Amino acid sequence: MILKLTILPGDGIGPEVTDEAVRVLETVALGFGHQLEATRKDIGGVALVRSKDPLPVDSLEACLGSQAVLLGAVGGPAFDSFPSNLRPERGLLRLRQELGVFANLRPAVCFPALEDSSPLRPEVVRGTDVLIVRELLGGIYFGEPRQTSGAVGSRVSIDTMRYGESEIERIAHIAFQLARKRRRQVTSVDKANVLDCSRLWRDVVTRVAKGYPEVNLSHMYVDSAAMALVARPAGFDVVLTENMFGDILSDQAGAVVGSLGMLGSASIGGKVGLYEPIHGSAPDIAGQGIANPLGAILSGAMLLRYSFELETEAAAIESAVAKVLDAGHRTRDLARGGQRALSTSEMGRQVSDAIRDQAQPAARTASR
Ligand code: IPM
Ligand code: MG
Repeated sequence: MILKLTILPGDGIGPEVTDEAVRVLETVALGFGHQLEATRKDIGGVALVRSKDPLPVDSLEACLGSQAVLLGAVGGPAFDSFPSNLRPERGLLRLRQELGVFANLRPAVCFPALEDSSPLRPEVVRGTDVLIVRELLGGIYFGEPRQTSGAVGSRVSIDTMRYGESEIERIAHIAFQLARKRRRQVTSVDKANVLDCSRLWRDVVTRVAKGYPEVNLSHMYVDSAAMALVARPAGFDVVLTENMFGDILSDQAGAVVGSLGMLGSASIGGKVGLYEPIHGSAPDIAGQGIANPLGAILSGAMLLRYSFELETEAAAIESAVAKVLDAGHRTRDLARGGQRALSTSEMGRQVSDAIRDQAQPAARTASR
């Protein structure tokens, strides 16, 4: 199979972690008889500096012309004072919109080897395997009006949270379909005791649930869900929630399972799938070669699974990551008490090597 990808390394640690994800994808391609065609393009701050646009036309066209997009991260303190339409983040938000990817899947899995890396006690985090299904194109991220007006000293800002029934319906279907293949439990998270959007959310999700009688649906307010996610993380299966709640809870879930650097994501449901680690550009450690590339690498696994239906290849990446962690390899964010910290590229190489070990027998069988 030919895998036609657009790579958007972006800002901060984005390029470092994406390089390792691409290295791993190349290893998979080689081992399983595929061909990677990857084009690199600018997005975010680096695009703003080079072409005054956080999502240049040629980057967008490359994405729309490929089968999947792998992104690193966007943003940085240099752009903090830029107007909102000229911020690096605007490029990412526009890209999500242009691709039409309304469903953002963010799995947070506690790898057994990482029980000690969590700030929580091992017995609390053990067995955690949550899939956050975050609505990605609606809510307060995109609602109109949004503006700041008035003179300095008496300015007023408005953001609008807006949801239509159809937007809630389509993301709810995704969550229930995914839950059917998992432990058949959906927790829908909202703030229905305060927000109209949340009351509509709850109503529509309850209606959609009727089509999935084998899936158990429960509702939780977001404040209570935030608490339960640290108190009993292993109790969750699929968490279905709107855009901003999903943004917040997924960072929290990252910390719970050991490090935000571990989480990958898939944004699907549109013309072309978009895959990115959920961590940001981490300007404080950028360029030092110490960032954890596993979130980006696991995003590569999701890319193979959701854009190409290459389940064996996706699982090969995931089990290689588990094997590398089992062998005691850690980047700085994961290392505890005296463990040596691997560099970003050493970690990427470890995963690649583990895949090569697994893929070779498979390739031999396939060629017989
Ligand atoms: C994320 C990020 C983005 C978001 C930012 C960079 C716009 O935090 O993917 O979680 O808020 O969606
Ligand atoms: Mg976020």
